Amino acid sequence: MKIEKFSTVFLVAGIFFFFFAFATLVASPWWMLKNVPIASVEELAEIPDEYFVKMSERYPAKFKNYFGEVNPKSYAKALRLGRDVYVAEGCWHCHSQFVRPISNEDQRFGPVSTPTEYQNELQMPQMFGTRRIGPDLIRVGGKYDNAWHFNHFMNPPAVVEGSIMPKYPWLFDSEGDPNEKCMALTAYIQWLGTWPPTKGMKEDWDADADDKGTAAK
Ligand code: HEC
Repeated sequence: MKIEKFSTVFLVAGIFFFFFAFATLVASPWWMLKNVPIASVEELAEIPDEYFVKMSERYPAKFKNYFGEVNPKSYAKALRLGRDVYVAEGCWHCHSQFVRPISNEDQRFGPVSTPTEYQNELQMPQMFGTRRIGPDLIRVGGKYDNAWHFNHFMNPPAVVEGSIMPKYPWLFDSEGDPNEKCMALTAYIQWLGTWPPTKGMKEDWDADADDKGTAAK
């Protein structure tokens, strides 16, 4: 008799938790985002980023060979390839792309992430990552210049003392210049946190940092 009662309690609790999980993890995200269109890479790339332009000026011949002229089309190509390289090299094993609303993360990484900023092709599937061996990267665009990233990919400890990030020598050509993959990856890294443009992520971050008296860079 007693056992029967318990099984009823478990059954009811089980059914409740199933529907609770469905509501919070499936229905609620769908409902929140159902009216937010998913931006294509072409839409994201309408205005090529200043760091992409700088790359073309620093390595004119090689850049031209890899991407052609600086325009929305070549920028979209670079962003797509950059994300592919990010996935292929397993950067997401060590880096998250999600600022959580806890532990004062916004003081270190910038404004807390919002669901809408993942509504674009470059975040499908999202690069939330599973753990943080290195810092979060969702707002890293514009934090350093291109040369910093190139040197860092070549040999991280030479740039950041004691860094345990691996070296990526295969992202460089025989002359030691960044190759197509490296330029694309850097364009992608510099893009992170610059979208949606109307939100001015980077500016928010700077304003936020000023308020709190923390350095933005
Ligand atoms: C084994 C773990 C690991 C992997 C894999 C890894 N990183 Fe890192 N990364 C780190 C660590 C640790 C740091 C912090 C020290 C430093 O700056 O080098 C870091 C720092 C960075 C920074 C500077 C972040 C900041 O805010 O200062 C960038 C950008 C970065 N990594 C990009 C990448 C990219 C792109 C890849 C893939 C090609 C990658 N990382 C792969 C561990 C890793």
